[in-house]
Amino acid sequence: MRPRTMGRGVPGIGAVGVGLLSFVMLWAQPLFAVQVSDEGQGKRLYESQCGSCHGPLGNGGKGANLAQPRLRRATDDQALFNIIRRGIRGTEMPGSPLTPSQVSSIAAYVKTLGRIEPEDVPGDGIRGETVYARLNCARCHTVSGRGGSVGPDLDDIGARRSAAHLREALIEPEASLPNGFLQLRIVTKDSRTLTGIRLNEDGFSIQFRDLAGRFYSFWKDELDTIEQQWQRSPMVSYEARLTSDQTDDLVAYLVSLKGAQ
Ligand code: HEC
Ligand code: HEC
Repeated sequence: MRPRTMGRGVPGIGAVGVGLLSFVMLWAQPLFAVQVSDEGQGKRLYESQCGSCHGPLGNGGKGANLAQPRLRRATDDQALFNIIRRGIRGTEMPGSPLTPSQVSSIAAYVKTLGRIEPEDVPGDGIRGETVYARLNCARCHTVSGRGGSVGPDLDDIGARRSAAHLREALIEPEASLPNGFLQLRIVTKDSRTLTGIRLNEDGFSIQFRDLAGRFYSFWKDELDTIEQQWQRSPMVSYEARLTSDQTDDLVAYLVSLKGAQ
């Protein structure tokens, strides 16, 4: 701890020099402490910054499942660092204002999540695919280019969301909607009422898709009412229509949809 190299043999630095140096050392102490408890810091930062979307163990919530040995986008340390720092454009993964050393410690912690035994998703994806067909989910969702566009494309849903979130999406769709998702009820000045999903909006116009998949664009002065229905979804709960085995199968099918690798 005592400064050994500096101050020695330099006339005049004496007490003041050592005093100044130990002041600097004291001040610098927390930095050294951070280095030592890096892993603890990574865990704490992860829990406060990431856990709400990725779950405390990396396998829950709206985020991608991080508790797996290989990640789809964060293929190496540099990619992992960049993703945590900058987020992923065009997705719900945000960038963060953290310092590089904080990002490194979170990245180190995320890598430990990949060493946890991979989660066993119960259910059979092949049977799940037949459940998906029978319930006509394709009325609103597209997989491999087939289906409707009222709901989000599910091509890579298994890579973007955890199994826990996918299960919740079937049982309680309104519990956790995609960012920016907004259902609208619109009444036109000629008294037509339409319900749909907002696609775009600016000061003068609004574009949306009704629940039959038809696209509309209106000038706002053509409309009487624009009712924003946050936290509402046209997707109903499938809880009553699925046995728990069928739910497991359907979740396994959704988890298997990883898009182009
Ligand atoms: C608002 C929710 C949200 C927050 C907060 C969030 N993430 Fe994400 N993250 C996501 C989503 C959603 C994806 C999937 C993006 C996609 O591929 O469409 C993702 C993807 C990732 C990926 C890429 C996974 C892969 O398969 O390669 C990593 C790594 C990641 N997040 C780490 C973190 C870390 C670390 C934090 C905290 C600093 C964090 N995320 C905070 C939502 C979030
Ligand atoms: C009436 C149209 C409609 C039908 C039918 C429908 N969905 Fe949805 N679904 C939506 C909409 C809109 C959303 C986005 C809002 C939300 O999360 O509820 C959504 C969301 C989802 C999500 C979450 C997507 C995400 O990014 O988090 C999943 C998974 C999903 N649906 C699967 C299914 C499955 C499986 C079926 C069939 C059992 C189904 N949906 C039937 C309209 C529909």
